[in-house]
Parts: sequence; C-alpha cells; structure tokens
Amino acid sequence: MRKVFLSLLLVPMMAWAGSVKSPNGNIELKFSVDNTGRPVYEMTYKGREVVKPSFLGLELAKDKHASKGMKETDLMDGFTIAKEDVSSFDETWQPVWGETKDIRNHYNELAATLDQKASKRTIIIRFRVYDEGIGFRYEFPQQPELNYFLIKEERSEFAMAGDHKAWWLPGDYDTQEQETQETRLTEIRQRYKTAVNWGNSSVAVFSPTGVQTSLQMKSDDGLYINIHEAACQDYATMHLELVDAETKNLSEKLMGGSNAYTPDPKPSAWPLPQPLTFVSHLTPDATGLKGAMQTPCETPWRTVMVSDDARDMLSNNLILNLNEPCKIEDTSWIHPTKYCGVWWEMIVGKSNWHYTNDFPSIKLDQIDWSSVKPNGRHAANNEKVKRYIDFAAKNGLDQVLVEGWNVGWEDWANMWKRDVFDFVTPYPDFDIQMLNDYAHSKGVKILMHHETSSSTQNYERHIKEAYELMNKYGYDAVKTGYVGDIIPRGDHHYSQSMNNHYLYVIKEAAKHHIMVNSHEATRPTGLCRTWPNLVGGESARGTEYEAFGGSRPDHTCILPFTRLQGGPMDYTPGIFETQLKNWSDNTSWARITIAGSLALYLTMYSPLQMAADLPEHYEKYDDAFQFIRDVACDWDQSIYLEAEPADYITVARKAKGTDNWFIGGKCDENGHQTAIKLDFLDKGRKYDCTIYADAKDAHYETNPKAYTITKKVVTAKDVLKLKEAPGGGFAVSLIAK
Ligand code: NOJ
Ligand code: CA
Repeated sequence: MRKVFLSLLLVPMMAWAGSVKSPNGNIELKFSVDNTGRPVYEMTYKGREVVKPSFLGLELAKDKHASKGMKETDLMDGFTIAKEDVSSFDETWQPVWGETKDIRNHYNELAATLDQKASKRTIIIRFRVYDEGIGFRYEFPQQPELNYFLIKEERSEFAMAGDHKAWWLPGDYDTQEQETQETRLTEIRQRYKTAVNWGNSSVAVFSPTGVQTSLQMKSDDGLYINIHEAACQDYATMHLELVDAETKNLSEKLMGGSNAYTPDPKPSAWPLPQPLTFVSHLTPDATGLKGAMQTPCETPWRTVMVSDDARDMLSNNLILNLNEPCKIEDTSWIHPTKYCGVWWEMIVGKSNWHYTNDFPSIKLDQIDWSSVKPNGRHAANNEKVKRYIDFAAKNGLDQVLVEGWNVGWEDWANMWKRDVFDFVTPYPDFDIQMLNDYAHSKGVKILMHHETSSSTQNYERHIKEAYELMNKYGYDAVKTGYVGDIIPRGDHHYSQSMNNHYLYVIKEAAKHHIMVNSHEATRPTGLCRTWPNLVGGESARGTEYEAFGGSRPDHTCILPFTRLQGGPMDYTPGIFETQLKNWSDNTSWARITIAGSLALYLTMYSPLQMAADLPEHYEKYDDAFQFIRDVACDWDQSIYLEAEPADYITVARKAKGTDNWFIGGKCDENGHQTAIKLDFLDKGRKYDCTIYADAKDAHYETNPKAYTITKKVVTAKDVLKLKEAPGGGFAVSLIAK
C-alpha cells in the first residue's frame, strides 16, 4: 500500500531554465517547467534549501453555464516558456505612518511568460527576489481564450527542506482567534485534535493538516522561514495544507468542499507532492468555489521570507513592498491615534452593550426607543462617556471608542438576522450631538463603532448614511466588527467575496476621510500601504481573550512574527488590573505583568494604540500610566535588538519627528535577562531615561503588579541591564535633553 502511495508522489527533477538572485546574492530563485510542462520553482538562502523544487498551478472549475461537453483545462501543465524577462528595481518610499520613515523596495525580478497549447492561453508567473525573501504571483492577461474563469483550487506548493518547528493556527475559513500551536511539521496532525477552540463565534476548519498564514517556522539549523501573502484583493485568503506521511486524499479535499459549483465534480487528477510540502488552500465562497476571475487580473503575491537572524523577520518590509503605492492623494487626515474606550467593562461583563431587556427580539423599525425600559447596565450613556472623555483629555489620549451607542444590541449576534443595526440611531441615553460637542471642546474625538454582526449586505446598504453621520458629527475613525457566521449564509470570512467587502468598506471610508480598524476581518496582507486609512485590525486573538479564559504569556512574542507581518493589529493592550474577579464576576485573568503590558506599546507595532483598561485602574497606577501618556505610535526608525519567536522581543524606536527614543522588551513565561547597548543614541547627547521594569519578585501569575520606575540620565555609551519577570517585560523612555 505504502509503495503505491509513494509512487504517486511527484518529486520534480529539474534542469533549470532561469534563475535570479537577490540584490545581495544571498537568495537564489530558480524556475523552469518540467517535462510535462508543469511550472516548478526552487529557493535557496546562502546555498541552503528553503523551498525544494515545488510545482505551481491552478485547477479550474467548469462553469455550469458552459456548453455541454466543454472541457476546462487546468492551468497546471502543458506549458512552454515563451520568454523570461529579468529586471531590477530599487526605490525608497515614505509610508504615511509606520515603523520607519523610509522603506527601501529593492528586488530583482523574473517574469516567465508561459503558453499552454491545449487551451491557447498564456499566463505569466512573476517572481520578485529580495534580500529578505521572495514573492511570486500568477498573472492572467486578457486574451481571446481567457476572459472569465473559475478557480477550483490554487495549487502553489512549498516543499520544506526539513521537519521544521512551526508556530501555527488551525486553518479556518472563519476565525483566526485561536492560540498558536508550536510543533514540528510532522506533529501538526496529532496536535490538531486539541488546537481548535470550538467556542469561538464562527469556526470552519477544513483539514487536520490545514494551517493559516502567516506561518512562522524555524529549521534545525537555525533558518527562520515565513510563508504568507501580499496584496490579497479580489481573491480568497490562502491557507496551507501540509502533505504528511498520512495524507492520502488531499486531492479530493482540494475540490472545494461538498457544495462545489462544478456540475460534475471529480477528484483532482493531480498527484500529491512529497511529504513536508505545503499546498495552497483557498477559502471557498458560499458556492464552494475559490474564485471567479475576470481578466486582466492576477493573484495575490505568495511570500516566503527567510533569514538566519530572527530579527530580520520583524524588521523586513517585503509584504508592504509587494503592495501597490498609496492610492489616496490627500492623506493629511490620516493620523496615528491613541485611544481609550467604553469597552473593557463590557468585555469583562461588568456592563452591557444593550439598553433594554424588554423584548424577546428586536425589529428596528417597530420600536419607540424613547419609551422602552432601560436595564440599568447600558455602558454607552451620556454620563459615563463624558467621564471617559474627561479622562482622555486629561491624559493626552486622542479618542474615546464607544461601543453599544446604537440601537440593535439586544439580539445582535448569531441570530441569522439580516437587519441587525442601522448604524445611525443612538440609544436614548446617548446624546450624539452633545457628546461630540463635549469631546471636541476638550480636543478629543469619539471613535465610531460599527458592529456588523457579519451581516454584510446590511452594512453595505447603510454605509453611505452611516459615514455621512460620522462626517456630520466629526468622527474620523471607525472600528468595524464581523462577529458570527457571514450573512448571506454560507459565505466565509476570508472568501473572495468577503475580501471584496472589506476593501469596499476601506474605499468608502477613504472617500469620507475615515480611518478603519476592522475586527474579525480577513488577516492583513499589506494593503495598508495602498490604503493607509486602514490603520488597524484584529484578525487574531486580541486582549479580549484575557477576559475569555486568557492567552498564554508567549502569545505576544509570537504575534509580531505571524499576524503582524501583514499590517498592524489593534491588540488593545494596557491591562493593569489583571485579576478581573477583583472588580467583576469574571474569573479569567490577564497573563501579563504591568511592565509587560507597557512593553506591548513598542513590541506590537500599531499606529492605533488603545489604553484598554478602566480609567480607575490607570488612576491607581498613575506613575506607570505615565509611559502610556508619553509613548509615541508613529516612528522614524525602529531597531529590533533581540528576537526569538515565542520567547522574547526587544525593540527600540525613535518617535516621528523627534529625537526621543522608546524601548520595549516582552518575554514569555520563562522570563528574560537583557543588556541593551544604547549606542544607537546620538553620540555626545544626554537623555532623560525612565525605566519601567518588573520588580525582582514580579511574576505574571503570582505578582503581576510589582514594578519599579527608575530615572537617570544616559548617553550612547551606557548599557541598560534589565530583568524581565516570567510573563513580563519592560518599557523605557529616552527623552533627548
Ligand atoms: C468582537 C471585538 O473583537 C470586540 O472588540 C468587540 O467589542 C465585540 N466584537 C463587539 O463588537
Ligand atoms: Ca474579536
């Protein structure tokens, strides 16, 4: 049996047609087609194999409208190389906001034009080779025989050179809010059984070896390898399915699920690749199809980043560089934002989003809200929102997020309810005019909240009115949300149609000069370069999970290697009162020290940063809160000083347009000892240095609130020796004198 299985495995043996090296020569990319005309590539780093010879291609689906007997030819084999164009590119661009002022986009390119005789079609596979990794994509020029086509599955392969350690999330069409698993590749199948938290609001796993991107790996000989994608637009989000020794029916699964659109679904004829190969697996839409394409068009870039230094995984800009330049002409209204919110107290269960308990269900147009009985637990009320505005004004925070301000929260989630919100009608105790006037008089803005409950048509129907309302009252940022299964039913959070929805929202927002922070949306792929009003997003397990049972202390030492590769995360850090039972009924607790919470403002880069805890908790630890008041969230320079996935990250950043630096270090449950050379400071200059560190006996579990604050004057010659407690960290501000 085993013999039969092995004989079906296809290992490409190649004579390479073309090759291109990265500008510094460390990475080499080779490309060819094999003797059956299948496209193959291989990638090496300093002569070591990163991706072994791997096939590329797409399986197509036959349209049900196609004439009887018509055959759709897969874009998998039968190709000849018509030409190969090699070119170079080098430019430096300035992001509207970011970790650095300048970003260099420097690569060598190989574009292979491939003819498929049987279908009379031509496609291009374009590779860009950077010093930090590669990107490749499929391009489909318009031509007589290629105008519209349907994707059954993309089959981009990534054959790994060893049984690497991997930090992975179960592949899922609807959620990314799982704990990261750390196993070897061959252990994924076994670990999968316990990796899925079925309690999440929407779970759709698809394979016992399916994982999400961005996938971070480490080889036994110390190579850090990351697979993700860039510029995912008008296309489904990609997962990876690992072929392991037990995989026998991958080709059947690649058909696209039970509800495949093809009138005559047949198992894929394409053989399995060798074990330890990842195969792309796209998110289907409600029909089971993976993509409906109209030429000219292209796929997103598939990215493989590599280095023998983990810090390069965090500092590199490959994914941003593979996205198109900014499409917003006037970006003056886009700005970094620090905010607090009427939020955490609802997350922990101390108060509610909804206003009344009077109705078994809500029909928005049938309720006279002025006469309903309030439940007394509605958080978004005038008095409370004013208190938060006062707190923001006093502490230099730019905005106050207010959730639960609009009618509809009584039956908002998981009811398959289409008309769940109208996004314009406030509850009677939220005076929208008065509160915005009050905020503006104090130099603060209210941050809008649009929970869509994943009822996307409903949101699109109301979006213009909703954004006009924001413009009218002076809101310039919205947090959107996609809790629950997608309505219309059957679609998935990361399908082509949903990715189009998220982008539609970003573009509509841009027209209204509104910044977007999207929760539960698809994982980012660097589109914030093109649309910098996309200032944040969730798309991973955020701080809210500290109130839903907690996240492991190493969680925030993994996210920068994975989730943050595609763009900033609205992680909502800053929890000081880690024991939630001290002040609410919630028995969960945050697995972090106060000093560790401060570190996240540096290690989890975002131009949008929340101070998530309650004002009274910040008032209690006001000396530590000083760091949140001081810290910048936009940078001219960032230097990753130390990094190891799931263990520790230390980064120094220079605040935009100033000479001030901030340093943050975050570690896992084992603690960490560090010595930071300040040699990046201006020579001969003095800095007022404030160090917020874990106290000697601090521990995320037993003593999370023990911290020390030390002040001194330092120069570039100094070294800071700092000890991070288990689950802790540190934060340092260096203000130039
Ligand atoms: C989930 C989001 O992540 C959270 O921040 C928000 O408060 C709730 N949805 C309600 O919209
Ligand atoms: Ca969420």
